[in-house]
Amino acid sequence: MDRISTTGDIEVSTYLEIAKERRGQRAVSRQQRRRMRETVAVIDFGSQYNMLIARRIRECNVYSEMVPYDASWEKVAALNPKGFILSGGPASVYEDGAPMAPSWVYDKHLPVLGICYGMQTLVHQLGGKVTPTPSHEYGHATLNLSTDSPLWFGLPTSMPVWMSHGDLIVETPPGFSALAYTDNSPVAAMGNDQNIYGMLFHPEVAHTPHGKDIIRNFLFDVCGCKGTWTTSNFISDTMGSLREHVGSGKVVCALSGGVDSAVVATLIHRAVGDQLTCIYVNTGLLRRDEVERNLNTFKQHLRMNVVYADASQRFLGKLQGVIDPEKKRRLVGEEFIRVFEEEASRIGQVHFLAQGTLYPDVIESSTPDSKGSARIKTHHNVGGLPSVMNLELLEPLRSLFKDEVREVGAAMGMPDEMVWRQPFPGPGLAIRIIGEVTQEKLEVLRAADWIVMNEIKKAKLYSELWQTFAVLTDARSVGVMGDHRTYGYVVAVRAVTSDDAMTADWARLPYDLLGRISTRIVNEVPGVNRVVYDISSKPPATIEWE
Ligand code: XMP
Repeated sequence: MDRISTTGDIEVSTYLEIAKERRGQRAVSRQQRRRMRETVAVIDFGSQYNMLIARRIRECNVYSEMVPYDASWEKVAALNPKGFILSGGPASVYEDGAPMAPSWVYDKHLPVLGICYGMQTLVHQLGGKVTPTPSHEYGHATLNLSTDSPLWFGLPTSMPVWMSHGDLIVETPPGFSALAYTDNSPVAAMGNDQNIYGMLFHPEVAHTPHGKDIIRNFLFDVCGCKGTWTTSNFISDTMGSLREHVGSGKVVCALSGGVDSAVVATLIHRAVGDQLTCIYVNTGLLRRDEVERNLNTFKQHLRMNVVYADASQRFLGKLQGVIDPEKKRRLVGEEFIRVFEEEASRIGQVHFLAQGTLYPDVIESSTPDSKGSARIKTHHNVGGLPSVMNLELLEPLRSLFKDEVREVGAAMGMPDEMVWRQPFPGPGLAIRIIGEVTQEKLEVLRAADWIVMNEIKKAKLYSELWQTFAVLTDARSVGVMGDHRTYGYVVAVRAVTSDDAMTADWARLPYDLLGRISTRIVNEVPGVNRVVYDISSKPPATIEWE
């Protein structure tokens, strides 16, 4: 009989010792698994778009993680890398304190590809020459291939690429030759016979149409990868390690109604069945009908143990008189922890807390760039629940991007409605009501938001848009209805396209659709007499108004 399953009868200290021993064993087998996985590490020099490189690598079915440029070899070796890609970054190699590629990039004799700043650091460190140019090369350029290279396999000899740099390579390091040029860059790409390559342009962005082919050539023809990182391998590996890790322990998971927590819960449920209990908290800040729809999906379709806690009045009470967005976030976060803890304590002894932390959250809190960057909004409560509750954390999605999470959900047969659900912020409608949140305003916003959603779905645009919603502004405007003057709320409609919420563009919705949304809101939602459409992109705006 498994000793851990008897925790109810043993001393806490004994339990902790056994748990520690087990964690050691599990760490070994996790390491073994990593050793079997092919990984190409992205060395991060601080550009906020570096995540795209890791995404492109994974789209080629090769696992990738970003590591800070100052990471120790021990940390990187644990990934068992088959090659390195040095990312772009804002620095210039001749500046004081400019970040450089660590020595292990060169010592390990693995393939290397430097992109933009990554190439410049290679040139600088290996004895070539980088100089600043009076004019930056920014935007589209035509790349002309000057010689054969494994990187160019299957590509045309001339192609559009995206440039974004201020420094030029004027001399390649000894042993390297130029592989391509543009009008402004005599050395736009270089390579040597040790499998070290560099390119000034950005293959990871959509503006370089053959960029993914170049990355694929590097992964398969230079690094020798086979492309074994697939959704089904991820699911089976993760379920295996979850079973091993959880043993006969009990797990709690907070369901938000969003895809991340639903996929986490489904994976864990598949792995350990009813050892998982989910807690679904109604904050009173959800959209119309959302509670019923979510409970139905969790219970009927996914057949999970779900504890439902209706705490809407508690949240509303906490938010009374609060207008500052960050205060709203904090209060909602804190109250959520309180309700969650109360519900969890009723379940009995619990060992693990499952969370839908994704890879972008992990990177945000670990890249060199994030060390000094200002916090725009406190989005995530990552770490809040576990530190308070003293439970071991399970984060099976921490290596995935959002689109990969959706793929995992779809592959596990989760309902489309859940898998393709647009993101919804934790503080919910509280940060879509500008100013104080009241029951009356919540009702107005729910009604307007329902119409936006309904029309967007009818127009079959829901899954093409990253987010669509209504905002209840704190502006009032004068209107006329019948022969009467009105003085009512102004509702803003927001619809954005995005890949990852880091950047977003306002959606060019058809005028007819916008017209229908506006007419319906003004006619059907009492108290609203004006609708505006938000045409700001991110940056400089953000997706949410608060
Ligand atoms: P912004 O407004 O920063 O939003 O462009 C980017 C994405 O994050 C979501 N968001 C939040 N999610 N808690 C959350 O769980 C929050 O406080 C929060 N604020 C914004 C937003 O909906 C968008 O998807």
